[in-house]
Amino acid sequence: MRILKAEKYEEMSALVAGVIGARVLLQPRCGLVLATGSSPIGTYEKLVEAHRAGRLEFSQVRTVNLDEYCGLSGDNPQSYRYFMEKHLFSQVNLPQGGTHLPNGTAPDMEAEARRYEALVESLGYADLQLRGIGHNGHIGFNEPCDSFPAAVHPVELTESTIQANSRLFDRVEDVPTRAITMGTGTTLKARRILLIPGADKRAIAEKALTGPIPPRVPRPVLPLHRHLTGI
Ligand code: F6R
Repeated sequence: MRILKAEKYEEMSALVAGVIGARVLLQPRCGLVLATGSSPIGTYEKLVEAHRAGRLEFSQVRTVNLDEYCGLSGDNPQSYRYFMEKHLFSQVNLPQGGTHLPNGTAPDMEAEARRYEALVESLGYADLQLRGIGHNGHIGFNEPCDSFPAAVHPVELTESTIQANSRLFDRVEDVPTRAITMGTGTTLKARRILLIPGADKRAIAEKALTGPIPPRVPRPVLPLHRHLTGI
């Protein structure tokens, strides 16, 4: 495990974009697992900047996102597909059809979970996985639970996650109560993981990276990974 320190959000974003950019330069056909949320927005801005300046190109990169809300289609501004299109996909030259998220409006979420896990597997899981962390320690939408979910699965969101995410909705009642997310097992199959907690997550991030590994808190399993970098 490697821990990199950044004092300010801007500095963290530049550092993370540098790590992702280096991976794309070294391995132009790489697979990236991407996250939504406040933590990676600055990173995406830096990647777009590098692309516009002609320093980075994405024409052979494939991406798979961690999660999506159930019930929201990709053209809904609150969906994670919409977020990714806005902050990254529409601004760089990722290949047509090369970006993937779970389908939040699939009629059968269990079947969608199996389809998405198979897709992630067919892409070789990931060369680099970018992850934020929730206030309650969730990674992706793996909420605290009794066992580590092995694969992509639908999940009921906890009240604390619904409250935290309601800042992005008009009313708390509008926040979907279910999501579909990669499992802890899906995460551990990635070759490298970059964990980027926002400034308000210092305590939980420290616990995540250096604390004990009780199964009731899903995220401390990350230190078991051979190539984990926390920033
Ligand atoms: C997003 C995701 C979530 C967020 C976490 C932190 O795709 O999977 O686990 O990474 O909720 O969100 P922010 O960055 O908004 O603090």
